[in-house]
Amino acid sequence: MGSGKDLLILGFVCMLTQSVSGSCDKGLVLQKGQCVDINECDYSICGKDSFCFNTIGSYYCVCHPGFINSRGNINFTAQTGQCIDTNECLTNKNICDHLSKCENLIGSYACNCQSGYVNINNNKTSQCKDINECEEAERKHENICGDNGTCMNINGSYWCICKNGYTNYGNDRTPCSKLSCDRFTASKTSPTLGGLADILSLMRNSCLALSDSTVPGGKADGEALLEKLLTATDEVLSPGPVGSSKGVSGLLGAVENSILLIGPQLKVNTTKMETKETVAQIAVRKGKSRPTGPLHLTSGSTSLSTDWSTALGTGPYPGFALAALLSYKNLEGSMNRSFEKLQKAEEDVSFQVFSKVVSVVVSNPSTQNLSSPVNITFTHLQEKRRTPEVGFICAYWSESGAWSPDGCSQQQSNETHTVCQCEHLSSFAVLMALYPMEPIYELQVVTKVGLILSLVCLVLSILTFRFCRSIQGTRTTIHLHLCICLFMADLVFLVGVSRTEPEGGCRFVAGMLHFFFLGVMAWMLLEGVQLYRMVVLVFNATIRPLYLYVFGYGVPLTIVILSATIRPKGYGTKQHCWLSLEDGLIWSFFGPVCIIIVLNVFFFTVTVWKLAQKFSSLNPDLSKLHKIRAFTVTAIAQMCILGLMWVFGAFLFNKDMIAVAYIFTILNSLQGALVFIMHCLLSKQVRDEYAQLLSCICTPQKKSYSDYSSTNPSSSQSQGSRSGQLTGESNI
Ligand SMILES: *[C@@H]1O[C@H](CO)[C@@H](O)[C@H](O)[C@H]1NC(C)=O
Ligand SMILES: *[C@@H]1O[C@H](CO)[C@@H](O)[C@H](O)[C@H]1NC(C)=O
Ligand SMILES: *[C@@H]1O[C@H](CO)[C@@H](O)[C@H](O)[C@H]1NC(C)=O
Ligand SMILES: *[C@@H]1O[C@H](CO)[C@@H](O)[C@H](O)[C@H]1NC(C)=O
Ligand SMILES: *[C@@H]1O[C@H](CO)[C@@H](O)[C@H](O)[C@H]1NC(C)=O
Ligand SMILES: *[C@@H]1O[C@H](CO)[C@@H](O)[C@H](O)[C@H]1NC(C)=O
Ligand SMILES: *[C@@H]1O[C@H](CO)[C@@H](O)[C@H](O)[C@H]1NC(C)=O
Ligand SMILES: *[C@@H]1O[C@H](CO)[C@@H](O)[C@H](O)[C@H]1NC(C)=O
Ligand SMILES: *[C@@H]1O[C@H](CO)[C@@H](O)[C@H](O)[C@H]1NC(C)=O
Repeated sequence: MGSGKDLLILGFVCMLTQSVSGSCDKGLVLQKGQCVDINECDYSICGKDSFCFNTIGSYYCVCHPGFINSRGNINFTAQTGQCIDTNECLTNKNICDHLSKCENLIGSYACNCQSGYVNINNNKTSQCKDINECEEAERKHENICGDNGTCMNINGSYWCICKNGYTNYGNDRTPCSKLSCDRFTASKTSPTLGGLADILSLMRNSCLALSDSTVPGGKADGEALLEKLLTATDEVLSPGPVGSSKGVSGLLGAVENSILLIGPQLKVNTTKMETKETVAQIAVRKGKSRPTGPLHLTSGSTSLSTDWSTALGTGPYPGFALAALLSYKNLEGSMNRSFEKLQKAEEDVSFQVFSKVVSVVVSNPSTQNLSSPVNITFTHLQEKRRTPEVGFICAYWSESGAWSPDGCSQQQSNETHTVCQCEHLSSFAVLMALYPMEPIYELQVVTKVGLILSLVCLVLSILTFRFCRSIQGTRTTIHLHLCICLFMADLVFLVGVSRTEPEGGCRFVAGMLHFFFLGVMAWMLLEGVQLYRMVVLVFNATIRPLYLYVFGYGVPLTIVILSATIRPKGYGTKQHCWLSLEDGLIWSFFGPVCIIIVLNVFFFTVTVWKLAQKFSSLNPDLSKLHKIRAFTVTAIAQMCILGLMWVFGAFLFNKDMIAVAYIFTILNSLQGALVFIMHCLLSKQVRDEYAQLLSCICTPQKKSYSDYSSTNPSSSQSQGSRSGQLTGESNI
C-alpha cells in the first residue's frame, strides 16, 4: 500500500541506514559502538493484509490468506508490490454447492443458500439444507395455509393444498380461501341477456376447475381469464343499450364476481386492460404480511382513492388482497333510467346519468360496511355549472336495478368533476338532478294580483287618453300607445309566460313579449324626444302620428323579425316563454333597452337644464313652464320605474336571487297602476274631466247636457280654458 505514511516511514529507514552505512552493514545500525539489527516490522512497513517477518539486516512480507501479492511474489518487500484480495468465487467455480451462491468478500468468501434453504455447515464449505416451512410455522403457531389448506413441504419452498371447494388460485404459498362457484349460476340472475349466460358459464367452469385442482401450481392464468371476461362483456354490450334494469344488474353483478375470482390469479401487482366497452385496472397484493398504505386506481376518466386496509377489511388476512376499478364506456345510456328511489324524496326533479358508470371491486367480503369511506372522482359527460336548478348526486346501482343515493355523498364538485365518498362498494355514477325552478307561492300571488290591477289601470288609462278631449296632442298619443304596449305585454305575460307547452305556442308568446316590451321602451324614447322638442325646439312640437307609429311599432317589429330569423330556437325556454339566455339572443332585448335608457337620460338631462334656464329668464311664462316641469317629472319617474325593472330583470334571468325576483315582479306588475296614477290621477285636467263624467253618471237626467257641453268647446268656462291649454301645448 503506497500511502503517504508508508512512504514517510520508508524514507526514514533509508536515511537511517545510509547515515550509518560507513560503519555498519546495510540494515544494521550503530548503537553503543555495536552494529545492531533494526526491526523494520515495527514500522508496519509491509502495509495491511500482510504479515511482516524481520530478518537480520532485512525483512520480508507475506500476504494474509485470501490475498495475493500484486506482482505474484510469495516473499516481498515494500518495494515489490502489495497485497490484493483474491476473488475465490472466480478462481474456484465449484467452491460452493449448486444450491448456494458464492459471494466474494474482502479476504474471504461466503456460500449463501437459496431462499428456502439454510447452510448447516460454515459459510465456506456450503451444505444447503431445505427449510421445512411447515414445521417451522407449526412451531410458531402460524397458519400459513389457512384453516382449510394443508401445508406440504417441498425442496426450497412449500405448497398449500386446499380442500375441495377451497382454492388459492394456483398461487403455491397463498392460504386457501372458500370458493363459491354458485354465484356464477345463471338462475340467480335475469336470463334476458344471452351473452351474460355465456360469461356466467365461462366463469363457473373456471371456478370449478380451480376448486377441483388439488395439484398445486396449476396453470391458472388470470390475465387470459380477464381478457375472456372483458371480451364476453363487450359482446353483451356491443349490440346497443341493455333493455332491462334487471339485465344491467345481472351484468354488473356477474362482472364484479368474476373479477373477484380472477383477481387472485393475476401474476402482476397491477393489471390494466382496455377493450371496446370497458377499461379495467386491478391491483393485487400477495404475501404473508397485510398490505397497507394508500391505493389509487384510475380507469378511463374515473379514479378511486382509498387504502389497502379498507380494501381488505377487518377480517383475517387471506394472503392476498385485491382492488379493482372497472369503467364501462357506454353503459350510461342503458342506465339512464330507474330514478324512482331518488324521485321518491323529490318528486318534480328529473335525473340523468352524468358520468361513466364504474364498478368498484375489493377483496373485502363486507363491501356493505367499509371501515372508512372511499373517494371516487368522476368526470362529467359534459361541462355543467352547478346552479340552484342543477345538482350533482352520487348514486349507486342497487341489486334490484335502480339508482339509490344511500351511503354515497357528494364531497365536492365543479363544472367538470364530482368527487363522491361512498361507504359501500358496487357500481356508481354521478347523476345530474334538474330541479324545477320553484315558483314561490307568494311571488305568484303578488304577480297575479299586481298584473290584474295593472291591466285594469291600463284600460282606464287607455280610455282616458283616447277619449279625454282636453289633453289630446302628441304627448297623449305617445302615452296611449305606451299604455297599449304595456297592456298587451302584461296580458301576454299574465296568460302565457309559463305555458311552455306546446313549444310553438311558447315561441309565439316569447315573440309577443319581446315585441311589446320593446314597444314600451320605444314609446318611452318617443316621450323623451317629445319633451326635448317641447323645451328645446319651442316651435312646431307636434309630430305627425304616422312617424310615431312607424318608430314606436316599426323598430320593435324589425328587431323581433331579425332576431327570430337569426335565432328562431332562442324564443321560448324550458322554464319560461321568454328569450333564451344561452346564445346571446337576450341582447336583442337588453341591447335596445340599454340604448334607449342612455338616450333618454341624455334627453332628460338637456330638458331639465333648459327648463332651469327658462325659469330663471327675465319674463318666464310660468304656467307653461310648470306644466312642462310636471311632464318632465312624470316622464323621468316612468323611465326610472321601467329602466329599474329591466335592470333587475337582467339579474333575475341570470341568477336566481329572491330579493331581485320580488323587486322585478312588483315593479312589473304595478307599472300599469303607476302610469295611471302619474298620467291620469295627478293631472288636473284629467281629474276635472273625471269629475265631470262622474257627475254625469250620478245625475243621468243631465246626460244630454253633458254630451252637448263636451262636444261644444266654447259652451262653458272650463272648456275655454281647456282649449287654451290644448292650443298652448301645440304651440310650445
Ligand atoms: C521466503 O522466505 C522464507 C524465509 O526466508 C524461506 O524459507 C522461503 O523459502 C521463501 N520462499 C520463497 C518462495 O522465496
Ligand atoms: C455466514 O455468513 C453470514 C453473512 O453472510 C453470517 O451472518 C453468518 O453468521 C455466517 N455463518 C457462519 C456459520 O459463518
Ligand atoms: C374451513 O372449513 C371449515 C369446515 O370445513 C369451516 O368451518 C371453516 O370456517 C373454514 N375456515 C375458513 C377460514 O374458511
Ligand atoms: C429434495 O432434494 C433431495 C436431495 O437434494 C432429493 O433427494 C429429494 O428427492 C428432493 N425432494 C423433492 C420433493 O424434490
Ligand atoms: C409488487 O408487490 C411486491 C410486494 O407486494 C413488491 O415488492 C413489488 O415491488 C411490487 N411490484 C411492483 C411493480 O409494484
Ligand atoms: C376522501 O376525501 C376527503 C375529503 O376530500 C379526505 O379527507 C379523505 O382523506 C379522502 N379519503 C381517501 C381515502 O382518500
Ligand atoms: C339521459 O336521458 C336524457 C333525457 O331523458 C338525455 O337528455 C340525456 O342525454 C341522456 N343521457 C345519456 C347519458 O344517455
Ligand atoms: C358495520 O360495522 C360496524 C362496526 O364497524 C357495526 O357496528 C355495524 O353493525 C356494521 N353494520 C353492518 C350492516 O354490518
Ligand atoms: C375540478 O375538480 C377536480 C377534482 O377535484 C380537479 O382535478 C379539477 O382541477 C377541478 N377543475 C377546476 C376547473 O377547478
